[in-house]
Amino acid sequence: MKKFYVTTSIYYVNAKPHIGHCYESTVADALARYHRLKGEDVYFLTGTDEHGQKVAKAAAEAGITTQAFVDSVVKPSLELWKVLSISYDDFIRTTQERHIKVVQLFFSRLHEKGELYESEYKGWYCASCEAFWPEGQLEEGSCPECKRQVEQITEKNWFFRMSKYQEWLIGYIKGHPDFIKPESRKNEILSFLEQPLQDLCVTRPKSRLEWGIEIPFSRDHVSYVWFDALINYISALGYAGDEAKFKRYWPADIHILGKDIIRFHTVFWPIMLHALGIEPPVTVFAHGHWLDGKGRKMSKSLGNIVDPVEMIKKYGPDPLRYFLLSEIPYGHDGLFSEEALVSRLNTDLANDMGNLLNRTLTMIEKYFGSMIPAAAGTKGAVDDELKALAAALPDKMDAAMSELDFPAALASVWELINRANKYIEIQAPWKLDKEGKVDRLSDIIYNLTEVLRIVTIAVSSYIPASAEKMWSQLGITEPLSKARFSDIGKWGLIRAGTKTNKGQPLFPRIEQK
Ligand code: ME8
Ligand code: MG
Repeated sequence: MKKFYVTTSIYYVNAKPHIGHCYESTVADALARYHRLKGEDVYFLTGTDEHGQKVAKAAAEAGITTQAFVDSVVKPSLELWKVLSISYDDFIRTTQERHIKVVQLFFSRLHEKGELYESEYKGWYCASCEAFWPEGQLEEGSCPECKRQVEQITEKNWFFRMSKYQEWLIGYIKGHPDFIKPESRKNEILSFLEQPLQDLCVTRPKSRLEWGIEIPFSRDHVSYVWFDALINYISALGYAGDEAKFKRYWPADIHILGKDIIRFHTVFWPIMLHALGIEPPVTVFAHGHWLDGKGRKMSKSLGNIVDPVEMIKKYGPDPLRYFLLSEIPYGHDGLFSEEALVSRLNTDLANDMGNLLNRTLTMIEKYFGSMIPAAAGTKGAVDDELKALAAALPDKMDAAMSELDFPAALASVWELINRANKYIEIQAPWKLDKEGKVDRLSDIIYNLTEVLRIVTIAVSSYIPASAEKMWSQLGITEPLSKARFSDIGKWGLIRAGTKTNKGQPLFPRIEQK
């Protein structure tokens, strides 16, 4: 059985999740569900990054212990992931013992292999980004990332001999075209690697920062938060503890993360792994950022975030998922606007898909006493066209999903939905009913329910809760979770005589002001 290991980045817990985090989780979830639908052995990991200065600072500001603070943020985020149907198999928190053990082991092994050395560190440090910046990269003396003031710091620390792997990394990236995606990010990293790579300062003195993982051979130091955080992708698999699980899922098939942290994942991370003889992940696929109405990145530090909980309360979880996935091509930035969300809900979800389901179920109720009729064998070119479009769907979805092109994957389903709606207009079942043409009417209704069965399976990776409701309204008794991707390409699976359960419209229209 093919395995598929997908991860999100692990989110900082200095504040609650925002739309950007929801996006990343939804993307990874849709991907995980898609691969499960294909019958693969999927492991979907997400979690939280709980160490570092940012978190310690936020806790201090809140006036509670750091552990109490991180717990207070994690609890509602778990609730949010549940409401949003994020089907992770594992949730790692970097304060968990299982993670701490692996990070310490990782350090010890690097140390034994002579990959670490102690030295004096002097540099420009941004406390907010927890990053040191070379003088040349500062912008008017401030952090090039968050534009905040940087401070000069001198201290004794441990360094990782990263520089000696520069040529190896360049060769690796060039030899593995799927390692960094999209292409623009790969070029960005390759051009970054034209400059000499520095060794990486991987510890922090406890005197400056206590909230971190203690270095086993240097107890007055803790791990640099990024070094600790990256290791989550293998600590969750029980690296060096649960060999069977590690072998089963590593290397990760795909790390999902935003473009702002691509360098950590495609420079630091592969070198860290390589230094210990561990294979790098297969693909690191960076997404873009959601921007606010003024075109600024939505972020905790800018204070311009959209609260996902509020959006979900107003519109429901699936419309939010659908909007995030369909609105922008993966890899690009996008403007978040509530208006655009409502407009997608009203057109694609309410008018197109919801309406197709609703009017079909209404006709089954009215003409066939809520029982799906048997196909009677009448034939027409319109039927063939509809079936051909359905038959072409799996390949179209596959092509789109292999590039993480969610808008294209969804568009291919909506092409079928729209064709089915047109089919109803052209065939005018209400006329056939009046004229008593029961055979033709039966065929049309049967074909429409087949389309709906196919559509429901096809959308189940993207809007899972709605797909469940559609499935139960169609009256199919086998659980949707048992359906497979291959069922999308088959015609005639829905059983005549199935009792439908027309319910409330799934996506009531929202009045636009
Ligand atoms: O960077 N639009 O955590 P984080 C889209 N803990 N995505 C966004 C976004 C936006 N406006 N804002 C943030 C960290 N993200 C580290 C990761 S991994 C070993 C450690 C994305 O909470 C961002 O790009 O700041 C990143 O992938 C994720 O949210 C977590 O960001
Ligand atoms: Mg961030």
